[in-house]
Amino acid sequence: MAADVTTTAEWQALRKHAEEIRDTRLRDLFAADPDRGGRLTVEVADLYVDYSKNLVTDETLALLTALAERVGLTDRIAATFSGAHVNSTEDRAVLHTALRLPRDATLTVDGQDVVAAVHGVLDRMAAFAGTVRSGEWRGHTGERIRTVVNIGIGGSDLGPVMAYEALKDYRDAGLTCRFVSNIDPTDIHEATADLDPATTLFVVVSKTFSTQETLANAHQARRWLLAGLDGDESAIARHFVAVSTSEQRVRNFGIDPANMFGFWDWVGGRYSLPSAVGLSVMLAVGPQRFTEMLAGYHAVDEHFRSAPLARNAPALLGLLNVWYTNFLGAQTHAVLPYSQYLNRFPAYLQQLTMESNGKSVTVDGSPVSYDTGEIFWGEPGTNGQHAFYQLIHQGTRLVPADFVAFSEPNHDIGEMHDLFMSNFFAQTAALAFGRTAEQVEAEGTPADLVPHRVMAGNHPTTSILAGKLTPATFGQLVALYEHIVLTEAAIWDINAFDQWGVELGKVMANQLAPLLTGESPDLGTVDSSTAALIGRYRSQRGR
Ligand code: F6P
Repeated sequence: MAADVTTTAEWQALRKHAEEIRDTRLRDLFAADPDRGGRLTVEVADLYVDYSKNLVTDETLALLTALAERVGLTDRIAATFSGAHVNSTEDRAVLHTALRLPRDATLTVDGQDVVAAVHGVLDRMAAFAGTVRSGEWRGHTGERIRTVVNIGIGGSDLGPVMAYEALKDYRDAGLTCRFVSNIDPTDIHEATADLDPATTLFVVVSKTFSTQETLANAHQARRWLLAGLDGDESAIARHFVAVSTSEQRVRNFGIDPANMFGFWDWVGGRYSLPSAVGLSVMLAVGPQRFTEMLAGYHAVDEHFRSAPLARNAPALLGLLNVWYTNFLGAQTHAVLPYSQYLNRFPAYLQQLTMESNGKSVTVDGSPVSYDTGEIFWGEPGTNGQHAFYQLIHQGTRLVPADFVAFSEPNHDIGEMHDLFMSNFFAQTAALAFGRTAEQVEAEGTPADLVPHRVMAGNHPTTSILAGKLTPATFGQLVALYEHIVLTEAAIWDINAFDQWGVELGKVMANQLAPLLTGESPDLGTVDSSTAALIGRYRSQRGR
């Protein structure tokens, strides 16, 4: 059994250090070290990461790095990249990093030539995407495909939809994608209501091909398509493709395995965007840009596995998150992209981080004695500024925040981007340095209003600035966060790659379904609250 990390000398030293620097102010740290803003930065590929506005000193960083060394972070990274079965509860390798290995790389895991397998699927995806994008692929009635509807949920939705939104500016074949995830029938209704079945392609994405929501939506899509195409079953082959690890279940659904793109059990759902799960994105932006995205991921992978911890961007950011969670008492972590194209990035990160690190036992099954998993949330700037930033600026809680932006706009319209970015720079400075009572008074503020207008500052932020939002920088950004998650998991000694907690709800939903329809009328099998709620539901539905 591994020793509880809180008993290590490194953890204890951080605890003591946290007490010592509790009253340290960012204002003073910057005043004492004029180079701080340039010094506490790290560059990874095209990402410039400024972590100087965090509540840390050089000693804090040294202690955090020592903790990482103590738990063997570097070995854990190496084990993960090598294909060791680090997902111990499912006895699986964790190899999303292999999805972006270049064609000439070599990696054999469990007897499989992983690189050949990955590139085999990428090539098939590219060939398929080429035919759809060129119009060579025709629908059942001979028309070309205009709309792709991605059906999936969790990692089979959030990655593709987030990437599609992020890379919208790179769409170039006149194809539009829509995303259906929720089993709320409204979702598929709204997604298909104004579509023509003859020009619609469904991409059904499910690692297991057994997820209730996805199968229900896929069956409805099938009914909708057939209703619009005279019920001719042969239309399915021209309008449905699947992405899955289960050929048998794809076949059972009625999709020809020739129209299936596979991946492997060593790709976790929330890490699967760079696999065939990203097919909709490839259809929209093309194989070349998809390849550029993969190269972006790979650049950060290489950095993560080779850079020394003190210069390793994902490791440093992961350690900062541990610092706030375990030593300064933060509960949440805001991610604030100053890019409208990244509007789904916070939602994507919620699954990536919270499904990965929302765990309460260590790898060997012992209960943890410390907090794990931050609550990730956020909205694009500047919208968030006019909604929840007030609490970050003047509330009582510690909310570490990541600010993400791009110097070069995708659309340079008048002065708008400069105005936009002035908010990005202003917010992190205001959060860090605030406004003192003296400053507020000097502005002639009436004495009774001074306390209301004082901004304490000292709110930690990390700024991530890249040149331009491109497929490559986008891939770099996603990989950065994937590896932040792994770093945190290593410190917390948890398995970031299973998700048993989600399973219970799935099983129970399937068990309760017959009670709702009245097919199984006996409500005595469930607790009194659930029975009363279902009883009310049934009566409102006339059952
Ligand atoms: O939400 C639980 C989960 O298992 C996720 O991890 C996964 O991304 C999602 O369900 C969808 O699963 P599948 O791709 O198998 O349909």
